Formats: sequence, C-alpha cells, structure tokens
Amino acid sequence: MKYAVSYYTRSGNTKKVADVIAEVVGVNAKSISEGISEPVDVLFLGSSLYAFTYDPSVEKFIQDNAANIKQIVSFSTSASGKSTAKFVKAACEKNGIKFYAHAYKCYGKFGIMNAKRSNNKDLEEAREFAKSVLAELGE
Ligand SMILES: Cc1cc2nc3c(=O)[nH]c(=O)nc-3n(C[C@H](O)[C@H](O)[C@H](O)COP(=O)(O)O)c2cc1C
Repeated sequence: MKYAVSYYTRSGNTKKVADVIAEVVGVNAKSISEGISEPVDVLFLGSSLYAFTYDPSVEKFIQDNAANIKQIVSFSTSASGKSTAKFVKAACEKNGIKFYAHAYKCYGKFGIMNAKRSNNKDLEEAREFAKSVLAELGE
C-alpha cells in the first residue's frame, strides 16, 4: 500500500495533525500546493472549516490529482469541532475516488477560542486513528 499525507492550512492547526499522522504512516506531510506526483493507494487529506465549508483549493486539489488517488481518508480541525468530511466525501464521489468511512476531527485554535487546541490528547487520538486505518487497510 502506498500512502501519502496532504494538508491545507492557514494558521498551522491542520498541519500539526498532518505531521503526527504522517509520522505514523512513515511519510512527510505535504501541502496540497505540492500536488500528488505519483499514484497513491491511500491519501490522508487534512482541511479545516472556514465560514461553514472547506477552502475551494482543497476541492481543486482533489479534482486535479484524482487520477493519482485511489482512496482518501479525511481529517480536519475547526473552531466548532465539526468536520469537513462531508465536503471531502462529495468531492471524492464527483471525481471517482473511494472515500474511507471514518474521519478524524478535532478542535483547532481560532482567536481566543480553543486556545490550547489541538492539544496532546487530540494529537494522540490522531495517531491512534492513523494506526487504525493502517490496521484496516494494510501497511
Ligand atoms: C476566516 C475563518 C473562518 C472560519 N470559519 C469557521 C467555521 O465556519 N466553523 C468552524 O468551526 N471554524 C471556523 N474557523 C476556525 C478554523 O476552522 C480553525 O481555526 C481551524 O483549526 C483552522 O485550521 P488551520 O490552522 O489548519 O487553517 C474559521 C477560521 C477562519 C480564519
């Protein structure tokens, strides 16, 4: 199985989660601006909520790189604790990419909200999530 980790971030919260997932997977997390240059079986894709949706560049990334991605596992951070998974899922369906049934999400710092998130517990849960994906899909 070939894995990759890509993320979109504005203030670094989602990158923090991407880095711990990447450590478990054994790759370097990369910004979506780098694209996916070689075919991957499973892409962990990080994004966050801005004004109730994800950034349009994440949808463009999925569309532009669809030919190189078999399956996407979504993870996200947000001020409300809500996930971007439904948007990622819709983009996967539109572009013929399998969407992994479980997604990871946690709070992300936003101004004075969630000042200490993501915290060590969030990152530990992200690690456990990544391990569970590897256990289910194969290493
Ligand atoms: C302009 C803007 C709009 C946001 N809108 C929402 C929102 O609608 N819902 C929410 O839960 N969080 C919202 N947030 C908070 C971010 O989702 C949160 O800070 C997230 O962790 C940012 O991740 P990043 O540092 O990887 O960009 C917003 C943040 C910004 C900067």
